Amino acid sequence: MNIAIVGATGNVGGKLLEVINRLKFKFSELYLIASDKSVGKKIHFQNKEYTVVGLTDFDFSKVKIAFFSAGSAIAEKWAPIAAKKTIVIDNSKHFRMDKDIPLVVPEVNPEALKLYKNKNIISNANCSTIQLVLTLKPLHDQFKIKRVIVSTYQSVSGAGNAQMNELEEQSKKVLDKQKVSSKNFTKQIAFNVIPHIDSFMEDRYTKEEWKMTVETKKILDPNISLSATCVRVPVFVGHAESINIEFDSKVDSEKIRKCLEKASGCKVVDEVKDGGYITPVESSGDFFTYISRIRDDNTQKNSINMWVVSDNLLKGAALNAVQIANVLVKKYIN
Ligand SMILES: NC(=O)c1ccc[n+]([C@@H]2O[C@H](COP(=O)([O-])OP(=O)(O)OC[C@H]3O[C@@H](n4cnc5c(N)ncnc54)[C@H](OP(=O)(O)O)[C@@H]3O)[C@@H](O)[C@H]2O)c1
Repeated sequence: MNIAIVGATGNVGGKLLEVINRLKFKFSELYLIASDKSVGKKIHFQNKEYTVVGLTDFDFSKVKIAFFSAGSAIAEKWAPIAAKKTIVIDNSKHFRMDKDIPLVVPEVNPEALKLYKNKNIISNANCSTIQLVLTLKPLHDQFKIKRVIVSTYQSVSGAGNAQMNELEEQSKKVLDKQKVSSKNFTKQIAFNVIPHIDSFMEDRYTKEEWKMTVETKKILDPNISLSATCVRVPVFVGHAESINIEFDSKVDSEKIRKCLEKASGCKVVDEVKDGGYITPVESSGDFFTYISRIRDDNTQKNSINMWVVSDNLLKGAALNAVQIANVLVKKYIN
């Protein structure tokens, strides 16, 4: 089976290569595609040198699966063209709420994948949604979730390469006591936090916050109410979320912990002592989503609080995409 990566030189593209290697995902030929500025660039992967090729002339009939990680505008224009000849797994937000396109987190709603034939496109959920629904799924199955309030602490790699560079450059300047200017963020990101990710909507929420609500409903259950506040923090890799969950039935933190200990793709690290929890830095490079600080909400019945951390480039993007491809290969294509 031949595969392609569109956006191979980007953050998520690089991680797709890493995950393909780590999961030993089998392929015959691999095509690495990026913008014109990267055409001809050499990428060393699994003892072979690959030359990056351009998107406009690429013949997608050469591949069975094309991973897209080149942003929404490229996906909007090129994914439907590619999908006439291959199956597209897209990392951008563009197709996520299209009712004919499955939005999949394999541990949560693998059954949705059967709809892939509608348009030959499968959407990868938003990074902050993926780690959230991964932890909500077993809890919803066992205790039925009524309402979720989530505040995110999202790393700059969630925005792209240029934003990672901006954090690095600004941090150096601040430490050197030089003046800082912002190009890719609306305010200074170094030594600061910004309560604004993606564009503002009419109801005063941001699109990132809206995405968490509608994607959770699409993937898990339309009856779950969810309110999000999404914040960009000066962390390179790894998103954290503080989550308050209200259930239909009586719960306590012990029952919740036991349930989460069995959650697929998750690990509970939750000790009431200094350092008995996971932070974004430790989650970086790891396939697991970590759950810490599970405790009863003493102000409201049937409610708990917890802290969830995951590598946004891995489970939040590349790992989830390759896991989707694995299910496709095992169950739907040969
Ligand atoms: N980062 C995350 O945590 C995360 C999580 C989930 C989803 N996503 C989504 O994944 C996508 C990629 O994000 P990223 O963080 O990897 O961005 P990035 O680091 O900025 O990389 C963008 C990639 O797209 C390529 N590209 C840009 N214009 C192109 C064109 N005209 N034709 C072909 N390729 C083009 C770039 O190639 P050049 O190097 O040649 O410019 C680069 O390979 C976005 O839609 C993002 O929202 C990201």
